Amino acid sequence: MATSELRVGPLVRGPRPADRGSRWCALTGSGVEAAQEVMRSDEDAAAGYREWLAAAERAGQRVLREPHGTYVLWRRDDVLAAVRDGEVFASRQGEVMPGNPPFGPYREILLELFNPGSSLEMLKPVRGVIEECVGAIATKLDRCDGARVADIVWRAAFVMVCGLPSDIALETVGAELVGKIRQAPPGGPDVISRLAAEPLTNEEIFGLMGSVARGLRFASFPMKVGLAVLARRPMLQQQLRENPRWQSSFIEELLRLEGGAKTVSRITTRSVTIGGTTIPAGSPVELCVGLIHRDESDDLSGHDMKLDGAHRHWSFGGGPYRCPASHLARDLLGAFFEVWLAEVPFFWFDWKGGDVPKAWHPRPYDPSSGAIFDDWIPNCVPLRW
Ligand code: HEM
Repeated sequence: MATSELRVGPLVRGPRPADRGSRWCALTGSGVEAAQEVMRSDEDAAAGYREWLAAAERAGQRVLREPHGTYVLWRRDDVLAAVRDGEVFASRQGEVMPGNPPFGPYREILLELFNPGSSLEMLKPVRGVIEECVGAIATKLDRCDGARVADIVWRAAFVMVCGLPSDIALETVGAELVGKIRQAPPGGPDVISRLAAEPLTNEEIFGLMGSVARGLRFASFPMKVGLAVLARRPMLQQQLRENPRWQSSFIEELLRLEGGAKTVSRITTRSVTIGGTTIPAGSPVELCVGLIHRDESDDLSGHDMKLDGAHRHWSFGGGPYRCPASHLARDLLGAFFEVWLAEVPFFWFDWKGGDVPKAWHPRPYDPSSGAIFDDWIPNCVPLRW
């Protein structure tokens, strides 16, 4: 597949003219100082997390309420109890299917579609695209926007995992097209071929493909964040190149520390009272796993990236609604970083190539704000080598 077909904008671009929040750093004025700020930002991020959690502890409010009626849980015991209690804190995934049906039966289909063996089969052609795309970038260019590359990869993965024609414009994909492909499916391990003969409507298959698109787009976030992490840490790049077996630990730690889900979204099925606050039935609730990943409650929840020993995180959620495609997501990330580290020589930030992302941390504690996790996904990762 020609990667240009996926139309995601230029691979190299210049800085945005204005509107630079504290998350970004564009090198104008004292470039050295700004670069130092980025390279030091992991320490600032650790301090930012500590300050948020300390302020929340002091305030003692276990349930926060966002302006639009969403409730937020942040304490480790509250978050984990809710993640595991699928009866009170239910999945919202049915909302993306036609008619908002219970999602349980579809979840079973996805679990089977994305079991470990099928996930590997589905990813074989995707790996080919990653090799082609990253190989071309490494040999023909000396810089690129890593965020654009991640966008190319997730879109290519979506087209291939679903069994769509390689020259498809994503805007044109709908239930009607699914119906057509379904009559003569490609016959591989892809979603449409595997569901073609099942008693599902075209709309239902298209709804499931929507979940796949969202999930794969989600998988592009750790790619973007991970490239920025590696650009900030030359030693880590070297370690991972010299010891490829540590790459899987890198991915787990990336999902825990920076690149994975920050919140798990659920909806209450009945009213529930936590720490004196009653959350009514039918309320959206955000469970802040991103905060408990770094709450320093034990050795597995610190701010440093630990490549050796055990890892633990809830980036794929947990309990009865845990992400059904975590194998696919992990394998995709594994292929991406393996190919990138094998093809692209030692790389660093292209300080003049756009807004360079610092390590992210939550905004200062504010119990009434809905913006705890704003801006955590870099929209530009300018790199050069
Ligand atoms: C790095 C990539 C990914 C991350 C971090 C991620 C994370 C999550 C999280 C946090 C949840 C909520 C779990 C819960 O409520 O306990 C979830 C659910 C889900 N994910 Fe993923 N996901 C990723 C990739 C994918 C992919 C590639 C797909 C599809 C191919 C996918 C499909 C789904 C679906 C359908 C659900 C809803 C499950 C249910 O409610 O029963 N995800 N994911």
